Amino acid sequence: MSSKPLRILILGGRGGLGKALTRRLEGIGEVTSWSRADLDLSQLDLIAPKLEAQPFDVLLNPAGMTSPDVCEAQPELACLVNVDAPERLAACCQRLGRRFIHFSTDYVFDGSKTSTWSEDDSTDPVNHYGKTKREGELVVLAAFPQALVARVSWLFGPDKPSHPDQIIAKAMEGNALTAIADKTSAPTFTHDLSDWITKLIVDHPEVCGPLHLCNEGTASWQEWGLEALKIAEGMGLPLQTNSIRPLKLAESTFFKAARPPHTTMSTSRLTQLTGIQPRAWQEALRDYLHGKTALAFSLPRS
Ligand SMILES: NC(=O)c1ccc[n+]([C@@H]2O[C@H](COP(=O)([O-])OP(=O)(O)OC[C@H]3O[C@@H](n4cnc5c(N)ncnc54)[C@H](OP(=O)(O)O)[C@@H]3O)[C@@H](O)[C@H]2O)c1
Repeated sequence: MSSKPLRILILGGRGGLGKALTRRLEGIGEVTSWSRADLDLSQLDLIAPKLEAQPFDVLLNPAGMTSPDVCEAQPELACLVNVDAPERLAACCQRLGRRFIHFSTDYVFDGSKTSTWSEDDSTDPVNHYGKTKREGELVVLAAFPQALVARVSWLFGPDKPSHPDQIIAKAMEGNALTAIADKTSAPTFTHDLSDWITKLIVDHPEVCGPLHLCNEGTASWQEWGLEALKIAEGMGLPLQTNSIRPLKLAESTFFKAARPPHTTMSTSRLTQLTGIQPRAWQEALRDYLHGKTALAFSLPRS
């Protein structure tokens, strides 16, 4: 007797994580991936009718206003998308009896300690993005305590250029490289993250509450970039430099919003609940970069 395929609805389907989740979850069920054009989360009154009209078993919400500087510049919109909309999504899933996985961030922490942060540590975000993401966690879990709030950090993957891609592209062009050396977290491959989410969906429907999901280890932006250059050099990419001058977070002038310095999260709860042991970020980064071609590292031309 064949069982019905799992129906999975993904919001933010054009985002970096949304695309990776869509690709991975197509292996386990019937996936519907919505972009902002399908459901604009700032239109709160559209949320319930759209979800009620769409058959699904599991809803994933990696959509959100994800740039700290944009959130600082548009605080009301950030509240709508990162707080009010997730609350509506959670309330709908609670009412309909569906699973809800919402994505949050290491930026809920103030970054004041260099040891890893656990789910039990108190949160104290330093910018509006972090504040809205934390508020979003609270309202989601108040509306639907069985929801899973997956906190992730420093994502990289094939669907959206991130720090290692940019460093390698600049090194190939011969630009002088700089990166912040006193801000740390855990770089995380969206491919690995999508595997963990798959396992949580298929094998662990009971897991709920805040849960940290990131690759093992910690890095500064400079260390993350240096590792990317080392791997790229090993791949024979035509780099014109392999050094990165360190910058201090306090001296950096390019951020509008404050950034928390140290936000590496512990994944002990994930391991304890599921047996998943995330691999080291360096190994994940090597796999990611080896999957790209030299052309794919070029800087985009305007
Ligand atoms: N990237 C990281 O390093 C990182 C680190 C920590 C936590 N996170 C969290 O992980 C999740 C996924 O991040 P990501 O990097 O994949 O983000 P992303 O690439 O910026 O994708 C976010 C998606 O949300 C969509 N969105 C924004 N406003 C919307 C609205 N009003 N209605 C509907 N959709 C809207 C965007 O749509 P458009 O394509 O139309 O703009 C975009 O596709 C987020 O919750 C983020 O806070 C990410």
